[in-house]
Order: sequence, then structure tokens, then C-alpha cells
Amino acid sequence: MILYSSELTTVETQYYLQHLIAPRPIALASTTNAQGNVNLSPFSFFNMFSNRPPIVIFSPVRRIRNNTTKHTLENIVEVPEVAIHIVTYDIVHQTSLASCEYPKGTDEFIKAGFTKKQASLIKPPLVAEAAAALECKVTEIKPLGNEGGAGQLVIAEVLCMHINDSLLSADKKVHQQNLGHVARLGGNWYAKISASNLFSVEKPNTQLGIGFDALPEHIRNSEVLTGNHLAQLANVNVLPEKDGSFNEQIENKYNLHSFAKSLIEEGNIHRAWQVLLCSVDPSRSLS
Ligand SMILES: Cc1cc2nc3c(=O)[nH]c(=O)nc-3n(C[C@H](O)[C@H](O)[C@H](O)COP(=O)(O)O)c2cc1C
Repeated sequence: MILYSSELTTVETQYYLQHLIAPRPIALASTTNAQGNVNLSPFSFFNMFSNRPPIVIFSPVRRIRNNTTKHTLENIVEVPEVAIHIVTYDIVHQTSLASCEYPKGTDEFIKAGFTKKQASLIKPPLVAEAAAALECKVTEIKPLGNEGGAGQLVIAEVLCMHINDSLLSADKKVHQQNLGHVARLGGNWYAKISASNLFSVEKPNTQLGIGFDALPEHIRNSEVLTGNHLAQLANVNVLPEKDGSFNEQIENKYNLHSFAKSLIEEGNIHRAWQVLLCSVDPSRSLS
């Protein structure tokens, strides 16, 4: 199916894009207006975009229903500061409650049962229950249109970060597996990050991986190895040579590729290469 944006309604566009561009991190944004009234709302159109200066952006969209602007945006126009909290599983339902369209002036800290904590550098209060928070100065608001559904980019510079000490190791590194992020997907779907569903992908190092085009043809055209497997083989810096000490007894090519596949999945790329190189050794009997 191909969907042309020009033929979709605003609601349909939102539906498809939100299901496809997922998972998205969730910013729980605390703001104040000129009178000091506090607002707290979640936004998943959110990410980091720069390191120097440290910039995050989120987007309170003009309401599709009636083309009005969100209270968060109105507050930021008055007081260009925001405390952004990283939403984790232990606060996800309170966060969802804070997203109710309460009348302007309602303090969602109270509605959602969060505790206020004084920020260090800005006026909006912090959510004491949040594991991590960013105190930000808003440097620009960029409207992307005037219709209902139009994003309003809030471009914010991070002035300081709060990270719960329990998430840090002695050398101040973040325990990624303990943070417990949640992310928004399409509709009512959320994803929960936990130690059991995290995995790591080794970064290609500064030397270049040999690439798919340098893989021997019998490996590249394997009926067993997928693109993910081949990419890990192609991430080596030089085409490996056969290791004389390596001695695997494998009777046919299908088994050989299957064996290499299981080695790749265990992270043993060197041995996987040696197994695959057996298949070009004429002394091996391959089917
Ligand atoms: C997890 C989650 C993510 C959301 N993300 C966005 C978003 O990125 N942009 C947006 O305009 N509304 C988003 N919403 C809806 C707003 O939170 C909702 O409209 C809220 O009432 C706005 O509050 P305000 O008018 O007090 O600023 C999201 C809601 C939830 C529960």
C-alpha cells in the first residue's frame, strides 16, 4: 500500500505516522505562566538534536479538534523555561493522567499526584518522582503551520540534568538497563525497556567495515544468513584469512551456514568467519 499525504485526512496522517515513527521517548514537561500557575503535560514528539549547544525539541501540536494551542505552549510564550522529565515505567500511568485536557490553570501535579521539587535554575518545578530531569531555557518556538495538527516546535537548551543517584555507577556512568524507560507507539501502545529486552550492537569502529560487497559470493548469497548476520560479518576491518589451527568437521554447506549463524548470534564473529571459510576449502566435502 502507498499512502499519499495529499489524499489523507489530518487524523489519518497522525494515525499512520504515529504507528510507524515509534517508539518515541516521552517528555513530561513542567511549565509556568507569568502568574506562576504550573502546568504538567507529556509529549512524545520529543528528542535531542544537538550536543553543543545541548538542544532538545518537543512539539505541542495545535489541537486537531478545534485548532487551539496547548497550555504548555502558551505558558512557554509567557515564561520561556521548561523542566523536561524522562518518563519511566513507574510514572507512566500518572503521566497519562497528566495528559487529560484539564481546563487552563489546572495544576496537573495535583491532578496526577506528583510532588513538586524546586528546580536549580528555572521557575517551573521538577517532578520529584522522576528518575531524570532536564532544566531547559527555551531559545525558539517554531510554528510549523496554522491548522489543527500543526506542530509547534519548542527548541530548548538544556541548562542542567538531574539523574537519580541510584541509576549511576561509581564512575558516574548511567545504568541503562535500570532506567526503565517507556516509549509511546501508535494508538494506546507503549513499550517498556527493561534489562531483558535490551541488546547492544557493536559500533563499527574507526576503521571501516569491509561491507557486503566484499563478502565472498557464497556467503553473500547464503540462503541461511539474513541481512543482520551478513552485516556483522561485513563489519570486520579486513577479510579474514583461514586460521590453520581451526578444524571444524561439517558435512554440508547448509549445516555450515547454520552453524555460522548460531555463532554470529552468540557474538562469536571470528569463529563464524572460520566456519564459513571452510566452505571454500576444497579438502572439505560440501554438498
Ligand atoms: C504519552 C503521551 C504523549 C503525548 N505526546 C504529545 C505530543 O507529542 N504532542 C501533543 O501535542 N500532544 C501530546 N500528547 C497529548 C497532550 O499531553 C495533551 O494534549 C495535554 O492535555 C496537553 O496539555 P496542555 O494543554 O496542558 O499543555 C501526548 C499524550 C500522552 C499521554
